[in-house]
Amino acid sequence: MKAIILAGGSGSRLYPATRVTSKMLLPVYDKPLIYYPMSFLIEAGIDNILIISSPDQLDNFRFLFGDGNRLGISIEYTVQEKAEGIAQALLLAENFTCGDQVCLVLGDNVFFGGEVNKIFKQTLLDNIAATVFAYPVRDPSRFGVVDIDCSGKAISLVEKPHFPKSNLAVPGVYIYDGNAVNIAKNLKKSDRGEYEITDVNLNYLERYELQVVRLKENVNWYDAGTENSLMAVSNHIYEYQKFKNVLVGSPEQAAYKSGFIDHKQLELTISNMPVNNYRENLEKLLVST
Ligand code: DAU
Repeated sequence: MKAIILAGGSGSRLYPATRVTSKMLLPVYDKPLIYYPMSFLIEAGIDNILIISSPDQLDNFRFLFGDGNRLGISIEYTVQEKAEGIAQALLLAENFTCGDQVCLVLGDNVFFGGEVNKIFKQTLLDNIAATVFAYPVRDPSRFGVVDIDCSGKAISLVEKPHFPKSNLAVPGVYIYDGNAVNIAKNLKKSDRGEYEITDVNLNYLERYELQVVRLKENVNWYDAGTENSLMAVSNHIYEYQKFKNVLVGSPEQAAYKSGFIDHKQLELTISNMPVNNYRENLEKLLVST
């Protein structure tokens, strides 16, 4: 199964923290932000991933993950010359998706808890044309907002509405069939000069082909795109790992759980890591399985 992680952008909101690095490489507690969407995908069984980023940052991701062999998966890379909108990722990935179903994930979205991995895995299997998630938030105006009827069908979808019709934000994880590329090809730029992913979703909605999966509040979802949310998710991961005695957002752990690497391969990967808490957590996984 295929997925795209969009990890570009200008980094302006987090300047100067992003002066010399990508937002997705900033730490969320004990690991780079991109580790979270990466492990989310791998744990759902996705083994073919394309990372899209800006020309100055792409090599850093390549250095971090290589060709994916260490994780038993394939990882490819493509440049987005200019940040012209999330939907542009679908065009840049055309030769990667080749008409297959694909999951597009924003590199600053973090999910954990509430069995979200299980829900996501099932949603990938259930997708017919396009699927988005809906998550209750206090500040919907910051996001794409979906309104659904009592049967769970999408009625409206608006990007950053001033007067939101519901409190349901659409997180940055989208599942599409092969038609998404054609839809993206026909998009016009929005007033803010971007190819909007919400316009792709609207296209599916208008044809009654958009499924919405509502996530409950026991799932933790963060869009770590601001200094405050980056801090909040770091603190939450710290607490969560400490009190639940688990490791969240580890691609190595996810690859092992998904069966992409075996006990021996995990052991080898760990042996190349410096001795620290991250390594210790993975060693615990080795001993317990
Ligand atoms: O996080 C969920 C929200 O993400 C959705 O609810 C919105 O519908 C969706 O538009 C998006 O809103 P954001 O305001 O968070 O989008 P932003 O422009 O910040 O882009 C999200 C990430 O995608 C950002 O961290 C960098 C990356 N990006 C963005 C654009 C526009 C790129 O790599 N290239 C781009 O051209």
